[in-house]
Amino acid sequence: MEAGLEQILNLLLESERAGVVALDQLIGAVENDDLRRLLAISREDEAATASALEQLIRANGGQPSDKIGPFAAKVAAAGALADQLRLLIRGEEWVARKVEEALAIAPPEGPIADQLRKMANRHRFEVEWGRAELIRIMNTL
Ligand SMILES: [Fe+2]
Repeated sequence: MEAGLEQILNLLLESERAGVVALDQLIGAVENDDLRRLLAISREDEAATASALEQLIRANGGQPSDKIGPFAAKVAAAGALADQLRLLIRGEEWVARKVEEALAIAPPEGPIADQLRKMANRHRFEVEWGRAELIRIMNTL
């Protein structure tokens, strides 16, 4: 596997793991059932993506990272729920941009591109519902 591609896939792997940790923390702090359910679905997606990336890297001759990205600690330190959610959305946007960078250097067809396109769609969707939830939360505070 090409070194640049391996590197960015590992960055995404570490980021999705950090997403799982950040979402675990948020789920524990959220009282609204609808929001908690959305966060729980997102957490499952992140966990599934992390294991898919790990397998893809290994299947293509790369070495999967065993690290967790620094993002979870940043979310925890962000303070109020609305601020944590805002940071979470920004994190998803950051991942979406990295996914586009990865797509630009990945082979255009095949399992890596398929996985990356799935991640691109899901992250765009999460950013959208995240923003909608944020507006709702701001209105009920
Ligand atoms: Fe993510």
